[in-house]
Amino acid sequence: MNDFYDQLTPFYPLIFEDWDDSIEQQSNQLHALIRKFWPDTESVLDVSCGIGTQAIGLAQKGYKVTASDLSEKEAERARQEADERSLNLDVSVCDMRQAFDHHGSGFDLVISADNSVPHLLNDNDILTAFKQMFACLKSGGGCLITVRDYEKEERGRNLLKPYGVRVEGNKRYILFQVWDFEGDQYSLAFHLVEEDLSTGKAITHTLHSRYYAISTDQLCELMREAGFKNVQRLDNVFYQPVIIGTK
Ligand SMILES: C[S@@+](CC[C@H](N)C(=O)[O-])C[C@H]1O[C@@H](n2cnc3c(N)ncnc32)[C@H](O)[C@@H]1O
Repeated sequence: MNDFYDQLTPFYPLIFEDWDDSIEQQSNQLHALIRKFWPDTESVLDVSCGIGTQAIGLAQKGYKVTASDLSEKEAERARQEADERSLNLDVSVCDMRQAFDHHGSGFDLVISADNSVPHLLNDNDILTAFKQMFACLKSGGGCLITVRDYEKEERGRNLLKPYGVRVEGNKRYILFQVWDFEGDQYSLAFHLVEEDLSTGKAITHTLHSRYYAISTDQLCELMREAGFKNVQRLDNVFYQPVIIGTK
């Protein structure tokens, strides 16, 4: 898993049309949710920060953000990106299934955004992660995860998922994934075609990963089992469904 994200790190912002715009837009949306559901929030723990898409935006909004990720390279880049923006972001490497053992307790909010939780490939591992997130929180604290809506995704093999075309200097990148389902999991190949616009020559970087196509109903059930109250799915508040619960 971390191999996939370690290798993806230098290309990660290419997933977005404009990464800085996405940082800002996502933090505006998350800030609105935080104000609505847990208005006293000051400290935020992001247990799958990647290169910092949400952690950086929330730090820019004034939250005291602690961030971690399984991928060492992504954590390192999140730290660099925060430094370049003169932000105080505490970043470390940690598996979310050990979030409490690593970070301890006392946070107002724990987040895991952009379909990170379904990288855990069975209910037991997800329940372990949710229990650890629960333990990281103060009483009354919130948990917020965002995930892909797998009920809306076709199942099968050779499924093409285009991500777009980006131009950076004299390089053009074409990004797409190919999914192959096996039961309720799928393997994905992420192809990044890197074309040199001055020579017309291209190379392809292909990275492999795996997801558990878990439904949001099942995720809500597991959150309740971990001890969270008022668990609910929110739609049309973020670019993918948001699931929240409170300790
Ligand atoms: C799609 S990325 C999202 C990253 C970041 N939240 C963002 O939106 O840019 C999924 C992230 O989950 C992380 N991840 C996967 N399994 C993990 C685990 N067990 N513990 C912590 N992070 C994990 C990956 O390393 C990756 O950074």
